[in-house]
Amino acid sequence: MKRAWNFSAGPAMLPEAVLQRIASELLDTNGSGMSAMEMSHRGKEFLAIAEQAEADLRELMAIPDDYRVLFLQGGATALFATLPMNLANGSGRADYVRSGHWSDKAIREASRFCKVNVAADCEGNGFSRVPAADEYRFDPEADYVHITPNETIHGLRFPELPSVEAPLLADYSSSILSEPVNVRDYGLIYAGAQKNIGPAGLCIVIVREDQLQGAREGTPSLMDLQAQAKAGSMLNTPPTFAWYVAGLVFQWLKAEGGLTVMAERNGEKAALLYGAIDASDFYSNPVAAECRSRMNVPFFLADPALEDTFKAEAKQAGLLTLGGHRALGGLRASIYNAMPKEGVQALVDFMSDFERRYG
Ligand SMILES: Cc1ncc(COP(=O)(O)O)c(C=O)c1O
Repeated sequence: MKRAWNFSAGPAMLPEAVLQRIASELLDTNGSGMSAMEMSHRGKEFLAIAEQAEADLRELMAIPDDYRVLFLQGGATALFATLPMNLANGSGRADYVRSGHWSDKAIREASRFCKVNVAADCEGNGFSRVPAADEYRFDPEADYVHITPNETIHGLRFPELPSVEAPLLADYSSSILSEPVNVRDYGLIYAGAQKNIGPAGLCIVIVREDQLQGAREGTPSLMDLQAQAKAGSMLNTPPTFAWYVAGLVFQWLKAEGGLTVMAERNGEKAALLYGAIDASDFYSNPVAAECRSRMNVPFFLADPALEDTFKAEAKQAGLLTLGGHRALGGLRASIYNAMPKEGVQALVDFMSDFERRYG
């Protein structure tokens, strides 16, 4: 058996130590005689796993006591609709920052349930930088402001948060746990699990209690955040196995030294890869240096006709899933927490060799 370096944007690599632990306790988890995926979600064995996972996440992210943590289904996409149904019930208006593909999706979905004001739009700069402070046009009546701190496809990251009056809601799907964040800056943070947390099928929501005012009439009960908070995320059967694996990832993160250590490592990995791209005319990345994602690195070949050869040869070399998203084309390397520096070094070495042969 040989593990490849997998640069998928999600579902993505998990830490090898976590996969080994899952394998070792697949038939008998915590002496229960059952796999975690066979446990009743209301049984004491699973409840202990669920509570430990939440406690570890709270410790890692320093989540204050007046924030609730929910473990929901439906991915981040379900939250695109859940947010306006639960939180756009004052003026019925919400500010969204359009910084790339995923915020655009969030806007399209939210527009079905509230009046969206696009407070800033990065399309004009080709999604190559986040808005400057004076480019925002917020609606003073907005019930909330929504941002996507890391755009997975465009490889764009907010180096600083916009200064806002309304509660800030953030889709952290592709950068949660990659560095410390100040949870207090947000009314709500959400993230699909399949990048930095665990398997797909789980979406984590961290929400300040004062935001749980009750969903509007007609909201499906599973999308009612207040009801989910009251039910401990168990209005129905939650994604138990994904929740268990998320808990193991949180334990791994703690053992590795927590989010400050992750931020250091991720900074080094990103510097290595962007350094290789910038040092050559053969590769390019269009994003302004200060806004470059440390998780998702899109890059382009000077001659796009070589892309298929690049991907095929990379695969031969054990470097997988380097194709860009179909919306953008080109190539992309996602380098989440679980990707070691060694994997990024292997990619950089391959890129240099490829340029020598085809450049
Ligand atoms: C930033 C961001 N938001 C939302 C999504 C959608 O997530 P899901 O497929 O879990 O609904 C993705 C998926 O890649 C993403 O990267």
